Amino acid sequence: MVLAVECDGAEIVTVEGLMTDHQLDPIQQTMIDAGGVQCGFCTPGILISSRALLDRNPHPNEYEIRDALVGNLCRCTGYTRIIDAVKMAAES
Ligand code: FES
Repeated sequence: MVLAVECDGAEIVTVEGLMTDHQLDPIQQTMIDAGGVQCGFCTPGILISSRALLDRNPHPNEYEIRDALVGNLCRCTGYTRIIDAVKMAAES
């Protein structure tokens, strides 16, 4: 997490920006496939954090995935399916 003023001049990608050519980003698709989405309140932050992790580390281990998602609180899924989705995206 960063203060908005720290983003001055930076490129910002929101969850809406993950799609390319009307195709879901792999992490969006695996989140659906793994059942990592329930109410969806946490989903944008988890997707962006996961995409950033996979961009800098294409094959993260479970500890690295959990560390990357710190600060994203999900009250629905219990995280197991979210972690599975990130692993699936890393394997795709
Ligand atoms: S899916 Fe509901 S808070 Fe994460």
